[in-house]
Amino acid sequence: MARIFFFFFFFLLLVVVPSRAFVVGSGAAPRLAAIEAHDASRRELIAEVAALAGLWVPGSALAADGRVVSESELLGFSRQPARKVVITGANSGVGLAGAKLLSSAGHEVVCACRTLERAERAAAACGPTAQPAVCDLADLASVRAFAASDAARGLDTLALNAGVALNTKDTVPRRTKDGFELTIGTNHLGHFLLYRLLEEELKKRPTNRLVVTASPVHDPTTGGGKVGSPATLGDFAGLRAGPGFDMCDGGSYDPEKAYKDSKLCNMMFTAEAARRLSPSGVTANAFSPGLIPSPDGFFKYQNPVFARVFSTIATAVGVAETPAFGGSCLAFMAADASLDGVSGAWYDTEPPGKHQLLCHDPSDEARDLEKQKLLWALSDKLVGLA
Ligand SMILES: NC(=O)c1ccc[n+]([C@@H]2O[C@H](COP(=O)([O-])OP(=O)(O)OC[C@H]3O[C@@H](n4cnc5c(N)ncnc54)[C@H](OP(=O)(O)O)[C@@H]3O)[C@@H](O)[C@H]2O)c1
Repeated sequence: MARIFFFFFFFLLLVVVPSRAFVVGSGAAPRLAAIEAHDASRRELIAEVAALAGLWVPGSALAADGRVVSESELLGFSRQPARKVVITGANSGVGLAGAKLLSSAGHEVVCACRTLERAERAAAACGPTAQPAVCDLADLASVRAFAASDAARGLDTLALNAGVALNTKDTVPRRTKDGFELTIGTNHLGHFLLYRLLEEELKKRPTNRLVVTASPVHDPTTGGGKVGSPATLGDFAGLRAGPGFDMCDGGSYDPEKAYKDSKLCNMMFTAEAARRLSPSGVTANAFSPGLIPSPDGFFKYQNPVFARVFSTIATAVGVAETPAFGGSCLAFMAADASLDGVSGAWYDTEPPGKHQLLCHDPSDEARDLEKQKLLWALSDKLVGLA
């Protein structure tokens, strides 16, 4: 119990206190404005240098336009034109809530889940415009079978949402069917292959979208990313070594870091996908649904007592979001007209627990162009495409 309160104390200290909300709320608006002005001029300078060096492709970087999207805007996402939206991990949490919202708004939804039974249950909960499909991201053969199926044809939005965060006390890595460490294998490599196999399908219409459910923990300088082992892919020593890697950076197994690393991979993947899709007009954006500490969902691999206590406290102090809120974020990113033409952006729930999205800068590593390209090349190799 003492450890739980210790953890919570650190959560308050490192997650809530440094948030922008706190800075603004404490009357330090001029300081924030100065920081933002400095950031903006730094970004302009970097863009100019990159343009001179011929590196800059419009819409290719993980961009920060400062846009704030309120809860009512999220819930009022566009109904028309109706889209076909493929959602991975659509049987639980954010994916299920998003699938329900999208189908009740008239969009066609493909619930791509780990098993047929879970997919059928999800589709039944969504209604007649939803269809079930099997896509086990921890099995590349299953990903290939799904990508080749009719369920994936004619899609308008591909929402790569599924994710696992394994027990932080695990000492031995669990593995996917293809031998990858399970967190990176599911959250990044399974999704990577799915995208790669559907890339040409997605490029068929310029209005199409790729949406990735990521997390601010990819950033070692903010919020939960500062607690425990920070995310970094290092020099990719693990991924370079081949499918039997324990960690991307070649370090020893750390399940908490593996999750953060997987979300960093999601961010770098989104940036590179945005660049590759740019000529076709198709967009790629990442978002976070916020902290949703569901003991039966995202926290299901953690100690159940810890999960329930953490969930109760996080909700009580107002930093938690709900699956329904996360689902509204997914539905907004997948279908809302205001995101037409917006690509390479990172929409984060900032400040935490305030039911809104803020488009702001991701971590420095997530924006590292060379690393984005290297991750892509290594991932291609690992999933058997190169
Ligand atoms: N909850 C949070 O605090 C939080 C914060 C930031 C970001 N996120 C991100 O939000 C996304 C959704 O999380 P959530 O909160 O909705 O958690 P969740 O309720 O646990 O949902 C995760 C989904 O991923 C699916 N999944 C796991 N492994 C899979 C596999 N091998 N193949 C296909 N599907 C698989 C799960 O299916 P099963 O039911 O079969 O396991 C489930 O449907 C994740 O990407 C997560 O990283 C969550």
